[in-house]
Amino acid sequence: MDNTSSAESRGRTRKLVYFFGALGGMLFGYDTGVISGAILFINNDFSLTPFLKGLVVASILIGAALGAAVAGPLSDRLGRRNLILIAAVTFTVGAIGAALSPSAGVLIFFRFVIGLAVGAAALTVPLYLSEVAPTEIRGAISSLNQLMITVGILVAYIVDAILASSGAWRWMLGLAAIPAIVLLVGMYFMPETPRWLMSRNREDEARDVLLRSRTEEETEEEIQDIKEVEREEEEGALKELAASWVRPALVVAIGLAAFQQFVGVNTIIYYAPTTFTKVGFTAVQAIYGEALIGVINVVMTLVAIWLIDRLGRKPLLLIGVVGMVLSLAVLGFSHFFLPQPSDLTDPEAIITFVCTATYIISFAATWGPVVWVMLPEVLPLRIRGTAMGAAVFANWVSNFIVSQTFPMLLSAWGPGITFLAYAGMGMLAFLFVYTLVTETKGRSLEQIETDLRKKTSFSTGKGEGAVQ
Ligand code: BGC
Repeated sequence: MDNTSSAESRGRTRKLVYFFGALGGMLFGYDTGVISGAILFINNDFSLTPFLKGLVVASILIGAALGAAVAGPLSDRLGRRNLILIAAVTFTVGAIGAALSPSAGVLIFFRFVIGLAVGAAALTVPLYLSEVAPTEIRGAISSLNQLMITVGILVAYIVDAILASSGAWRWMLGLAAIPAIVLLVGMYFMPETPRWLMSRNREDEARDVLLRSRTEEETEEEIQDIKEVEREEEEGALKELAASWVRPALVVAIGLAAFQQFVGVNTIIYYAPTTFTKVGFTAVQAIYGEALIGVINVVMTLVAIWLIDRLGRKPLLLIGVVGMVLSLAVLGFSHFFLPQPSDLTDPEAIITFVCTATYIISFAATWGPVVWVMLPEVLPLRIRGTAMGAAVFANWVSNFIVSQTFPMLLSAWGPGITFLAYAGMGMLAFLFVYTLVTETKGRSLEQIETDLRKKTSFSTGKGEGAVQ
C-alpha cells in the first residue's frame, strides 16, 4: 500500500468509527424527544390517570439513571464497544415492545427498558469517542454525540408532527428500531478503544486499532503515553487514589452533569409546546414553534463543534450560562410586568418565544456538548467508566427531578418565579465552573490525568510539588 492510499483508508476508517461511535446519541435524543407528542395519543387509547401519564413519560428517565449506574462498571469490565452493542440490542427490543404494548403497564415497562439503553448510551458513547479521538480534535469528535442527540430530538419532533394527524403513536415509538438496528450492525464492525485495550493488557490489539487511523509514529507515541499513565496509576493503591487526587475530578464531573439539568434545559425540550400554548399559541403553532427550537438546537451544536477546540471548554461553559441566565431572567420578569397574552402577536408571546430561542442557542452552543465532552476527559483511565457512571447517574436523576417538578412548580409558583429559580441555579452553575473547572483543551487524556495527580499531590503536600 502506498502512502496516499493508506492515508485515505485511515481517513475512511476514522469517519466510520466516529459515525457509528456517535450514532447511539441519536437514539438517546429520539427516545427522549418523541414522547412529548406521542403522549397526547397514548392518552386516548389507554385513558391514563395523571399518575400513569407521568410514569409513561418518566419511566425512561428512571431507566436511564439505572442504566448509567450499571453501564459504568460494566464498560470498564466488558469494554466500551461491547456496552454499545448491548445498548443497541436493548434499544431495539424496547422500541418494538413499546410499539406493540397492549396496556399502559406493558408500555411503562418497555419505556423503562429503553431508558436502560439510553443511560448506557449516554455513558458509553462520549467515552468511546473521547478514547478513539486524536487530542487536537477530541472536543469536536466527542461533540458528535451531542450533535446526534439534537438530531434525534429534531427527528422525533418531525415524526410527531407528521404522524399527529393520524395519532399513530405506535409508529412514533416503533420507528426507533431502525437506527437501533443500524447501530447494532455498524458497531459490530467497529473496533474497541485503544485505551480500554491497554487497560486490559492487550497492547497488540491496541496498536492494531491505532494503526488503522494513525501513522506508526503517532501510534507508538500514544501507546507510550497510555503506558506511562497506567504505571503511575499502579503506583498508588486504588483506594488511596479515590480518597485523594481522584476526588476533585469526581466533584467536577458530578457537578457538571447535575448542573446541566438544573439549569432547566428540559423544561424547554420536553415542555415547550405546553409553554407556548399557555401564551396564546394554537396547538399547531406550538408544534411548529417546537420544531424551530429543534432546528436551532442542531445548528448551534454545529457552532459548538467549531468552537470547542478553538475557544476551549471553560469559556464556553461560562458564556453559555450567562446567556441562559439572561434569557430566564427576562422570561421570568416579563410574567410579572406584562398582561396574559391572547395571541402570538402579544408582547408576552413574542418574549416567551424569543427567550426560549436565546436560551436554546446559549445551551446548545455550550453546556449541551461541553458537559458530555468533559466527563471522560476529567476522569482517570482506570476508573473512567465507573466514575462516569456516577456522573451520568446524577445527570438522569437531576433530569427526573426537574421534569417531574416543573409542572408542579408552574402551578404552585407561576411561571415568573419558576423561571427566576432556574436563573438562580444558573448563577450557582457559573460559580461552580468559575472556581472548580480546569480547561482540558489541547491536552491528551494522559496529560490531563498526570496534571491532575501532580496538582492534587502538591495541594495536599504529598507530592514533589510539580504543578503545571
Ligand atoms: C442533555 C439532555 C437534553 C439535550 C438537549 C443533552 O446534552 O443531556 O438532557 O435534552 O441535551 O439537546
